[in-house]
Amino acid sequence: MRFKNKIKIAIDSPAAAGAGTQAKLISKHFNLFYLDTGKIYRLIAYIKMAQPKKYNYALIKKKMSKLNMKDLQNKKLLSDEVGTMASIISKDKKIRKLVHAFQIKSAYHPPKKYNGSCLDGRDITYKIIPDADFKFFITANTNTRALRRYKELKGSSKKISFNDILKSVKKRDKSDYNRKVSPLKKTQDSILINTTNLTKRACFLKIKQIMDRKLKA
Ligand code: C5P
Repeated sequence: MRFKNKIKIAIDSPAAAGAGTQAKLISKHFNLFYLDTGKIYRLIAYIKMAQPKKYNYALIKKKMSKLNMKDLQNKKLLSDEVGTMASIISKDKKIRKLVHAFQIKSAYHPPKKYNGSCLDGRDITYKIIPDADFKFFITANTNTRALRRYKELKGSSKKISFNDILKSVKKRDKSDYNRKVSPLKKTQDSILINTTNLTKRACFLKIKQIMDRKLKA
């Protein structure tokens, strides 16, 4: 499938709502360049955790100027601890500014072979791609999100309890929704997708149907 113009999809969501899964499915289906923007904040968090004494603005600025997609594939970025630290460092306005350029380039100038771009995060619909062709706010109730994250992480070597994951999802929600800089919010022009009672496939079909309707109009 080819489009006359490149398309841009912006997705915002709270932690573990299934946005990443949907963004990947949609990107594959429509041949879009996908960027999980949370991974960039996770990478910065990981650097801070691995080198707490060296961590400073200049170091991150240098790392961000050389950032590439491979840097974001490190499995260690997926841990709950890194996610929690990401929600702390992402409150810093100066740090957020450093990662904007990479996100904007990915959204507006994806590699030529793609039909466009799809980014997910917390401030994509109103800060990074305010003129996106499609905006979605993907969410699910807190217990469902915690259970999904628990199942995802259970396979890893560390001992993990559901209650700890539930606590950390709630903590992250509180921080992401209430922070002063670029808080998580559903913009008026975003379509709400509640994945609580939907399978991955049903959710994908719902989003695809919304997109097909507009693309074929
Ligand atoms: O999406 P993910 O759970 O990987 O994001 C980790 C953290 O990074 C979030 O809890 C949030 O604090 C931060 N983040 C952000 N803005 C984005 C993406 C993620 O502040 N666009």
